[in-house]
Amino acid sequence: MPVKVIFIDPRGNPVEATGAPGDNLLRVGQSAGLPLEGTCEGQMACSTCHVIVAAEWFDKLAEASEEEEDMLDFAAGARRTSRLSCQIDLTEELDGLTVSVPAESADARRM
Ligand code: FES
Repeated sequence: MPVKVIFIDPRGNPVEATGAPGDNLLRVGQSAGLPLEGTCEGQMACSTCHVIVAAEWFDKLAEASEEEEDMLDFAAGARRTSRLSCQIDLTEELDGLTVSVPAESADARRM
């Protein structure tokens, strides 16, 4: 069953993407053309895959590990519902998941 994800791009425009259960959120976002760099390819060493999860979806995600929380401390523009997209794998329950790609992620790449 396909899993729909709505990304809000840094300009505030919704971009709809479709993945399958088990797909990695970072990869789904990259395939949809979102500016998610994911420099470390899921090793939790960069935070360039940072997304802000819509509040109503945040509690539906598996909890962040301590390493992820530590890494999020370094993410530009991090909020309470921030996550590293490389640490989120889609499940059928996440159909409709909505996450924003912070504007800061594009800025960070130029630094
Ligand atoms: Fe580097 Fe997610 S890709 S922390």
